Order: sequence, then structure tokens, then C-alpha cells
Amino acid sequence: MTTVTPLKGFVGTAHTRVEGRDKVTGAARYAGEIPFAELAHGWLVLSTVARGRIRAMDTEAVLAMPGVLTVLHHGNALHVETDYAGLMGMKPDPSVALFQHDRVPHAGWPVALVVARTSEQAREAAEALVVHYDQEPHDVAFADGRPDAYPAADTPVAPAVAAKGDLEAELARSAVVVDAEYTTPEEHHSPMEPHAATARWDGGRLEVVDSNQGSIWVQGELANLFSLDPASVRVRSEHIGGGFGSKGVRAHQVAAVMAATVLHRPVRVVLTRRQMFSLVGYRSPTAQRVRLGADPDGRLRALEHQALNLSSTVHEFLEPCALPGRVLYDADAHHTAHRIVRLDVPTPTWMRAPGEAPGSFALESALDELAEKCGVDPIDLRARNEPETGPVSGLPFAGRRLLLDCFREGARRFGWADRDPRPGLRRDGRWLLGTGTAAATFHAGAFPSTAAMTAEADGTFTVRISAADIGTGARTALTLIAADALHVTPDRVRVLIGDSDFGPAMIAGGSMGTSSWAWAVTAAADELRERLVPGATIPPDGITVRSDTSAAIAARSQKERHSYGAHFAEAAVDVTTGEVRVRRMLGIFAAGRIVNPLTARNQFVGGMTWGISMALHEEAIRDPASGAHVGADLAGYHFAANADVPLIEADWLQEEPNADDPIGIKGIGEIGIVGAAAAVANAVWHATGVRHRSLPIRPDRVLQAGRHA
Ligand code: MOS
Repeated sequence: MTTVTPLKGFVGTAHTRVEGRDKVTGAARYAGEIPFAELAHGWLVLSTVARGRIRAMDTEAVLAMPGVLTVLHHGNALHVETDYAGLMGMKPDPSVALFQHDRVPHAGWPVALVVARTSEQAREAAEALVVHYDQEPHDVAFADGRPDAYPAADTPVAPAVAAKGDLEAELARSAVVVDAEYTTPEEHHSPMEPHAATARWDGGRLEVVDSNQGSIWVQGELANLFSLDPASVRVRSEHIGGGFGSKGVRAHQVAAVMAATVLHRPVRVVLTRRQMFSLVGYRSPTAQRVRLGADPDGRLRALEHQALNLSSTVHEFLEPCALPGRVLYDADAHHTAHRIVRLDVPTPTWMRAPGEAPGSFALESALDELAEKCGVDPIDLRARNEPETGPVSGLPFAGRRLLLDCFREGARRFGWADRDPRPGLRRDGRWLLGTGTAAATFHAGAFPSTAAMTAEADGTFTVRISAADIGTGARTALTLIAADALHVTPDRVRVLIGDSDFGPAMIAGGSMGTSSWAWAVTAAADELRERLVPGATIPPDGITVRSDTSAAIAARSQKERHSYGAHFAEAAVDVTTGEVRVRRMLGIFAAGRIVNPLTARNQFVGGMTWGISMALHEEAIRDPASGAHVGADLAGYHFAANADVPLIEADWLQEEPNADDPIGIKGIGEIGIVGAAAAVANAVWHATGVRHRSLPIRPDRVLQAGRHA
């Protein structure tokens, strides 16, 4: 019999990861290391040209190599369907439809899969496969002002254009105008665990063991791609070593399914770090123009943000850079819009704070430039432009808007009041010192999800939900949420995730996983507690209830729902070597109820670390001659490593659930990077008096700028 005793809440208290011991002892198995009998290994062969056609492929020689079982290519591949509406009604990127034609749209395009008995045999054969191409001239030159750029289409997450008022008229009336162009480079997710999938047919069912951000998502896409009954496809993804937007349906799952279907045995496809640079998406480079018009005191009359990103020739992907301005600042006129240019490159994809990360660099740098021009403190400037309702939508904000509270608390803790606003004054030996700040915001929503909860006869509870823990601590968060909702201790709750058989649920994405899943888990617990009347006996197979939050979420009123944050950074710049060091960084966030402070701090600090990395290091370079990356590995692709990252402090304001949001949980996976690069760039300006409008702020750029200053 189960006794339901109210306990103190576990949500909000630190809890180590429930699977932490398994992970550190190696007991937790990742997708690429789960054993299967008769397992075969597939190795993808990628194009060496950036554009053209496959003329011929010397498969005979490779088929004769030791252990080789088959070579799949456009001449013998299974049909893959791409004419369907997938996640959120979006058409799939046809890049995942492997081997359907002989065209090569970019360097690193998959042209064949070699399958062999061992991974080593597959790799050796794949590297020996000679492919002949009819090469065509390619174009990978991303630049602003290209005549072939065109207005982006709306996406389910972002209207391409948002406007109100008469922008040009307000700019003309403005005493102070900032008109500046910013660029950000191509950036890559490179999660620690490379993408890996094993596919096998088992009793008429396709089972895929994978590393993804949503098993139910990958299951749905694979069913559509291979025209299968969704009920006959099961995707599992128990432990995931990072995703950041790159772990949806990609070439490796499709390759594994195709090979397993042809060979009638389990097939595993694991990507190499190098292959990930062309196969799993990336963040597009951007060119952005921001025009701000203001009264002398800094009150905004006009806010314009125009952004350009690239996409491949096969699929349109929008990096919605102009979103933050639609939320952050009031202005009499707003105009925010996006354009796209299509090049002979892989399709970009979502990467941690898609749009907001590069967009906030431009907008929050421009705000800092405006503060400088008006002679107004950057925080006072934000206070002067705080909106009462959605700046463009006019919709009310859900709950209280805590952006300025974040700035006030951050300023107090960072010592902002002591700052001399004049740049280039502070020095420590060879270092010029400066401080900078920037705002952060991210959409806070919830998507319909289902969960099942079982009261077991032994007094424990089992939760089943198709959630994904991509390293965020989601499994632990849901354990605490379920424990509180059931009024039991977390040790009596077992949370099973990462299995498409558990039914529809939100993916780990858009910073909406935990809020969406928590809602479903709470709803299930509420119902289960009603069923567990005192004295009720539980049958041997337990009592199970199911929840579905579709109706509750559809019934929510239309509101502006966001999290907020304020970043503070101190930078040291050596203008004789061009070296930039971040000396300290503080982020204060308002992101709803924080479920587990231990893993939440991880998320914020991780995002801020990316911000430093984005500001100073990250940049994937394409060789215009080959159209391929230069240094597609973690030696050639620089990112902030331990020695580059100072003590980062992240903290948050208490935010209680409000009437608009009974769960009170907002996402925390992405907001940490939003505005972080701008805070660093603004600190570099304050240190040197030189504005860097192109990221990363490399030593050569610091030196070059120094010569002109
Ligand atoms: Mo994310 S870019 O929603 O994984």
C-alpha cells in the first residue's frame, strides 16, 4: 500500500544526476557502444567536390575487400520519401534522403555507404572507394550585399518579418542614430559524443538505437522517410553526450536503416568528428545591419535589424537573428527582417539559441554603441526602453518581466557603479582593461507532451516519457518534479526516457523540453494521487495513468513568454599581441523556477562559456578553391578551452509560477549564450576604445584595429 505523505519540495534543491554513477563508471552505454549479435558496420563516403555529378564509382574493387558486405549508393539505394510534413509541419531537409540521385550539392555530401563486418574493414574500404565526378564550378562565398539574396520565408518558430510604425520617419526624427554592420562566422556544435545509430529489424519492427534529442521525433521522421507504419518503428536514445541542436534525424540513422533493411542484420553507423563538420548541420555565418534611432536621452524611436544567413541549394534554413529586438526594446517604429543566400554548402541547422545567439551579438553591440553616443549608461539605456507590452506584438507579458531586475542584481554584484564609462583608461601592465554588459532573452514555451505514470505494488513509481537527456540533467529534473508532484521522496521515483514507445512528447530543444515534460509528468501525478485513495491496494502490475497536455497548452492565452538575463564581462586586451582574455564574467538570469540548481548552473555557465568562445575563438573556415573546410577537426576549429575561461558566475532570481503558467518552469539551455558574446565585445571596446563588429575578435583583428585607432 502506498502512503501519500506531503514532504518538503525537492524542486529547487541540489541533486546529483540520477544516472551520474552509471556515467562515471562506464556502466551507461552510449549509442555507438551497445553490443548486438551479428552487428555490421557502415562507413559513409563523402564527396570530395563541392558541386557536380557522380559519373562513376569503382565498387567492384571495394566489394572484394576483406569483410565488405555491400556498398550502397545512388545506383542501388532504397527509395526515401521527402514529401511530407515533419516536426511542427516542417518539410524535411532532403540532405537526409541518402543516395537518391547523382547530384553533389556540397563538399562532404554522402555519396556511398560501405558496410563490412568490422568498423575497421568498413573504414578501409570506404577510404579505398574511388568515385569519379563531373565537377562544376561552385560558390561558397558568403557576403553581405549579394544580389542573389532573397527574403526568407516564415518558419513555425519565427515570422521572417515583423514591423510596426514608420521606420524611416522615426529615424529622420532621431537626434542620435547608430547604423552599423556586424558579422558572425560559421560555427559548429561538435557535441562530445559523435552521432551514432544502430538499426535492426526485429520481428517485423524496425528498432533504432540512437543518440538524439527526441526519439519520438526521429521515429516519426524515419517512418515518413521509409514509408513505414509509425507503430512499426521504435527509436531509443538512453544516454546522449551533447546535442545543441545537431541531433535530429541525420544521414547516419538513414544510412543504418537502409543497410539493415538490405542486409537483414543490425548495422551501426558512427560519424567521425571530421564527418560531423558536413553531416550534422552548423550555425550559418551571418551579416547583420542594425539601425537605431533615439532621442538624446537614449529613448528609442526606431529599431531596425536586418539579417542575412546562408543555406544550401537543397533546403532553406533560417537563422532568425532579428528575434531579440522584437522582445527586448520598445521603439516607436520597429522593422526586423531576414534574408537568405543559397550556396554550395551543407544546410545549416539549429545550434544553441539559433538566431538569438548571433542576433544578440549585433543588437546588444548596437545598444552599447548607442549608449556611448548618447552618453548614457548602458543599463540606464535599457531601463529607458523597457516595454509595457510586447514591443511589436502588443501582447501582454506573462508574469512579471524581470530584465531590469537582472541588470540591477548583476550590476550590484559586478561592481558596475564604480565603472568609468570612458574607454581605454584602465591598465594593468601590458593589459588594457574594460567591462561590458548585454541583455539576454529567450522564448519560454511548452509543447504538448504525454506521459505515463505507474504506482508500483512495492510503493515506488515509474514514469515513462519520451523525453531526452542530452546532458542537461533532464532525467534528474523530472525525477524531482515527479517526486514533488507525488509527495514522495525522489528515491521512490524511477524515470524512464528516450524511447519512442512512450508516446508523443516535446524534443529536447528550443529550451522547451523540461517545461513541456514537467507539465505532462505533473498532470499524470495529479491523476494518480486521486486514484491512490488511502487503503487502496495496488495490483501486482501497478496502477498506470496517462496524461496529455495538448488541451491545456492549447487553452493558454496568447502572451509574450520569455526568460531574461544580464551578462557582465571584464576583458583584458594586449594591443601589442592582439590577445584578448576574459577575466571574469557574471550572468544573472530570470528563467522561472529552477528545478535543480546543480545542473542549472551548468547550463548557464555552459552557455556563457560558448559566448566567450563565440566572441574570441570559434570560426569554421571554408577554402574557396575546394569549397570544403580548412581544418575540420578540433585542432583547426578553435574554441574556448579551460585556460580561456575564467571563473564564471551564474545565478538567478527567484521567479514563482504565475496565473499564466502553472508549471513555472522556463528553459535554461539556451539563454546563457544569448548576449554573452556582446558583453565580451562591449568589454573589449571599453578596454580599447575600438569596436569589433566581426566575430571572432582574433588577435590579427585587434592588431589591425589598433593600427587604425
Ligand atoms: Mo536546440 S538549438 O533547440 O538543441
